[in-house]
Amino acid sequence: TALEVETIENLEALYDRAFMIVKEAVEAGSKNFGLATGGTMLPLYDRIRNSKLDFTKCQSVNLDEYVGLSKTHPESYIAFMKQQLFHEKPFKKSNLPDGEAIDPSAEAARYEELLKQLTLDFQLLGVGENGHIGFNEPGTSFDSGTHIVKLSDSTRLANARFFPSLDEVPTEAITMGIASIMRAKQILLIAVGEKKRMALEALLKDEVTESIPVTILKNHPNVIVLTDLAI
Ligand code: GLP
Repeated sequence: TALEVETIENLEALYDRAFMIVKEAVEAGSKNFGLATGGTMLPLYDRIRNSKLDFTKCQSVNLDEYVGLSKTHPESYIAFMKQQLFHEKPFKKSNLPDGEAIDPSAEAARYEELLKQLTLDFQLLGVGENGHIGFNEPGTSFDSGTHIVKLSDSTRLANARFFPSLDEVPTEAITMGIASIMRAKQILLIAVGEKKRMALEALLKDEVTESIPVTILKNHPNVIVLTDLAI
């Protein structure tokens, strides 16, 4: 496996390192960036906002979006990205799945077509407590392209902290598939905090299995894993 794991216990240092990896990718000429949402990304986007990095010649492509949540809802991923990054660091073009599309399946197909036209040079990834990447829940086929998913109860519970109540957490999302993610040339996975231990352990120790989606990264030639956990 080509996984390169860097364990950095101090979170400030860990996110400084994450920022350096993004900066090096920009300087090396990466043009198309796969972006992620989630609490894990906040300190990284903070560093990027406060940097001199320029993405105006780059495109961004986000991993996923909730279905049925208004784009103006603060927890929609488009609103998150605008607030955390795009307002201050605009890209030439930013792509997210449209969670308000009348026909979500057609929207997923459109997004997959876009991903086939444009090679991602760099993909930023977090990981769910159950090992999901994007919103690819356990059991998702490794051959999957962009598709609609029904969110697992555990994922909805984990994300309920961002909503007034569990009822308001959407039940579905559009996510890049595992095959879509694996086409990226370089991947940076950030796994921080005790809640991510099971997923990280599986990635570092277990076999590659569809029941823990993140384990597919063992089959990718260029992955850096940043973590504060000693495994
Ligand atoms: C969410 C997102 C993922 C993210 C993960 C972890 O459900 N769809 O892209 O990596 O869960 O989120 P957090 O970083 O808040 O722990």
